[in-house]
Amino acid sequence: MPKVVVLTGAGISAESGVPTFRDADGLWEGHRVEDVATPEGFHTDPQLVHQFYDARRGALATVEPNPAHLALAELEQRLGDDLTVVTQNIDDLHERAGSSRVLHMHGELRSALCLRCGHRIRWEGPMLDAPPCEWCGEGRLRPDVVWFGEVPYYMDDIIDALAGCDLFVSIGTSGAVYPAAGFVARARAHGARTLELNLAPSEGTGFFHESRHGLAGLLVPSWVAELVHR
Ligand code: APR
Repeated sequence: MPKVVVLTGAGISAESGVPTFRDADGLWEGHRVEDVATPEGFHTDPQLVHQFYDARRGALATVEPNPAHLALAELEQRLGDDLTVVTQNIDDLHERAGSSRVLHMHGELRSALCLRCGHRIRWEGPMLDAPPCEWCGEGRLRPDVVWFGEVPYYMDDIIDALAGCDLFVSIGTSGAVYPAAGFVARARAHGARTLELNLAPSEGTGFFHESRHGLAGLLVPSWVAELVHR
């Protein structure tokens, strides 16, 4: 079996009812990205930012994994350590589908980050008006989400996995945000075959050996079946 790296984006959760980022109006659930997804936005109006992520976290209770998430969990059963799933998504649908080793490079809604000591804490409820960090006893908490201008998590692990994989598959991402948008070129430079599964051609579609366009809920299960039965 090949060593596989899968990169997922908002498109894999779209059929579960989680809105994607780049809608026609350029807003994220009615807000400018600068206001809710930058350190400056949080500094200017922490209450707005907390309310925004508290609403996103609350909405997780209303959505379920779809066949694309389930197919990747099945693939983990087959490939074990030879599969690395990297997601830009902050939802927990991969885990709820059964994937156990997902690298959330842009952080997670169900996690809080202490502004003072940097401790990361599992978080389920609202964060607005939360008590100080339970670890250091003093720090204010922020959503554990990587905002524009911040460094993504797990970059060393991801770069190693890209250098060692035979196949790189990008699912449901517009290819508009770096560093994730550059993973295809990096994997390809190391000799991997590259495949895009997306509703429409992404910005980086030309970098892939092969692109298949359609719903993730259909494309991903059929690609996984192809891989495990070949
Ligand atoms: N099946 C497959 N692909 C889909 C589906 C679907 N059902 N629905 C939408 N898509 C595709 C769209 O065509 C688009 O190319 O998913 C992609 C979603 O793109 P974005 O909304 O830009 O999401 P993403 O690429 O994950 O964004 C990257 O940008 O705002 C930041 O940090 C945020 O992690 C996010 C990053």
